[in-house]
Amino acid sequence: MTPIEGFSKLSKEDKIRWIAQSISPEHSTEYEAELISYFHPQPEVQKLYDEFSENTITNFYIPFGIAPNVLINGELYAVPMAIEESSVVAAASKSAKFWLSRGGFKAEVISTKKIGQIHFLWKGDYHKLYCVFDELREELLGNAASITKNMTARGGGVLDVELVDARHLIQDYYQLKITFDTCDSMGANFINSCLENFAQSFKAWLLGKEMFTSEEKDVNVVLCILSNYTPECLVRAWVECPITELGQIEDQSAEQFAQKFKTAIEIAKKDIYRATTHNKGIFNGIDAVVIATGNDFRAIEACGHTYAARSGQYRSLSDCSIENGHFKFWLDIPIAVGTVGGLTGLHPLAKRSLELLRRPSAEQLMKIIAVTGLAQNFGAIKSLVTTGIQKGHMKMHLLNILRHFSATEKEVAQAIEHFKTNVVSFTAVRELIEKIRVDYDSLV
Ligand code: MEV
Repeated sequence: MTPIEGFSKLSKEDKIRWIAQSISPEHSTEYEAELISYFHPQPEVQKLYDEFSENTITNFYIPFGIAPNVLINGELYAVPMAIEESSVVAAASKSAKFWLSRGGFKAEVISTKKIGQIHFLWKGDYHKLYCVFDELREELLGNAASITKNMTARGGGVLDVELVDARHLIQDYYQLKITFDTCDSMGANFINSCLENFAQSFKAWLLGKEMFTSEEKDVNVVLCILSNYTPECLVRAWVECPITELGQIEDQSAEQFAQKFKTAIEIAKKDIYRATTHNKGIFNGIDAVVIATGNDFRAIEACGHTYAARSGQYRSLSDCSIENGHFKFWLDIPIAVGTVGGLTGLHPLAKRSLELLRRPSAEQLMKIIAVTGLAQNFGAIKSLVTTGIQKGHMKMHLLNILRHFSATEKEVAQAIEHFKTNVVSFTAVRELIEKIRVDYDSLV
């Protein structure tokens, strides 16, 4: 491949042609046709997808599945999940069914605050600035009124502006730490617009203030940006029941299962290798709903992992207790999502997802997402401490492996029958397919 100037300026057709010729010069026509085959049949919808990002040449499909029977605070949901990994939707669905007859999931939003920061270097007298900070706060809020008006009318807006002395971290370093409530929107654009406006006002205000020396009038604003760490945009999801109600699980009594389950959580609270995988399982569920509803899964992941390390050590996000014969399993997690604005109202399937969830508020969506993460985690740990993960996983994965060998419908049917009583592995599937084909060849 050779470097290219002005790729972004090429038409979509020319971009496709260039890619096809660069990657597959001998079969560029087929390559182009394949890319084009993934276009949406309606050109106006395709245009919409193209415009979500830049340099788009086609669409990348991810399966969109449903986990039904998810009972949350007495209300039943069919949860949309966009995920490519096999077993995830199945595990969430199985957990939902398990808890459906045991009172379902509970969830509550603990707080909904978000943070934005203006990071600046300043060589002035901190105490002078500190003394007039209330005046500065009023100035900032007043000047940003045109940006904050609508959000304030919806019940949100700027909740607080604090001056943070961070000189112990970097010489002359301070922050304006601003707390927001962005109601049903994720609020990234709102927060960033406010911050940039505040930074301008801050500079202008300093310049006009007699009490500051000329050096103090000069502030070096390094950057203004929201923080994706939102520990105060927090939701708790949980399940609980008397241990006896858990029933016999595989070959384990309810008591044995509960104890082993709790030990598995303890391990994930202490061992960072296990904690990472444990939390990855939680995000299997969380990301799938976040993506399906048109939210930003990178933000949610980044925040969740930071939160998991808030004690100074990376730990399990979920926790478990057994007290007086009562089993409780819960997940506390910051989830900053929106149900209005951004992609939520533009992406056709994100719109459908939100409809399916009965047009939830951001707080309701936080609960649904946290519950799906918990359901996923319950399913994973339940399998891990009983049958092991591979039994169910490889059964689900069987179709992917069969596809790899371009198995015919008849071969797929034979393989499914065979692996009802045999352990699935890549080699075992290959050997079976080879045997089926050899047997077939010897017959014809
Ligand atoms: C696989 O995607 C997720 C699990 O590894 C999670 C876990 O180990 O808890 C099964």
